[in-house]
Amino acid sequence: MSGALAGRTALVSGASSGIGLAVARALAGAGARVAVVARRADRLAAAAAELGGGALAIPCDLADAPAVARALAQLRGAFGGAPDLVVSNAGIFAPAPLAAMSEDAFRDTLAVNLVAPFLLARAVLPDMLARRAGHLVTIGSAADRQAFPGSGAYGASKAGARMMHEVLRMETRGTGVRTTLVSPAAVDTPIWEEVDPSVVRAPHAAAMLDAADVARAVLYAVTQPATVNVDELRLSCA
Ligand SMILES: NC(=O)c1ccc[n+]([C@@H]2O[C@H](COP(=O)([O-])OP(=O)(O)OC[C@H]3O[C@@H](n4cnc5c(N)ncnc54)[C@H](OP(=O)(O)O)[C@@H]3O)[C@@H](O)[C@H]2O)c1
Repeated sequence: MSGALAGRTALVSGASSGIGLAVARALAGAGARVAVVARRADRLAAAAAELGGGALAIPCDLADAPAVARALAQLRGAFGGAPDLVVSNAGIFAPAPLAAMSEDAFRDTLAVNLVAPFLLARAVLPDMLARRAGHLVTIGSAADRQAFPGSGAYGASKAGARMMHEVLRMETRGTGVRTTLVSPAAVDTPIWEEVDPSVVRAPHAAAMLDAADVARAVLYAVTQPATVNVDELRLSCA
């Protein structure tokens, strides 16, 4: 396949809908062979069929560390090693006032939004460092810098992911491994469908970004010359 990412492999987490699916489309469109990871196997199979180019569907609950290890082993077998690009995008957003938030909701948010990106990064970094090439992209959020009511768990997870990205940036500088944080404001995706409007009211669709806008930012970051690291991109509606 031709394109800026021809010959490259990519893992996109949370690619069964929304931003992750748009990112998977953008990377595949640029020639990458993409593995899509999320829980809903039917949606992943449909995504892989649409993407073509040897795309792989790997169903996995990213909150389950042994399942993440199995998914990565499957991926290594198929790709012959760690992917060249990892986009940690899977996320959950279940806003509630902290006084009313269940412990499970708090732990689940941290597990998917913060611990899973750590598990993915830790698993692929040894190969990337040995190759002196690779790119870890984290999908952050406006909430990784700004506090919003109801975002006690979500904001903590996203601020933590931002800090983990910044530490990784320092730890990998000069190694050939690149790291990018892409932090959008509200994006029109299914994530808003389950949000309790009495806690957070979704902005009008016209005041939200499209998933494709975020995907273009990811594509920009991963198609720069190998000597350039795009540290952070913050997107909001114009
Ligand atoms: N939409 C916004 O306004 C907005 C703004 C800023 C940042 N973000 C961030 O963008 C990312 C993508 O969100 P989105 O808006 O595209 O929402 P979305 O359409 O709901 O997508 C979320 C994705 O995460 C996956 N996921 C959730 N829990 C998972 C788990 N336990 N294991 C594996 N995959 C899991 C979902 O797949 P399954 O359900 O199939 O598992 C889905 O593919 C998130 O990190 C979110 O925080 C979104």
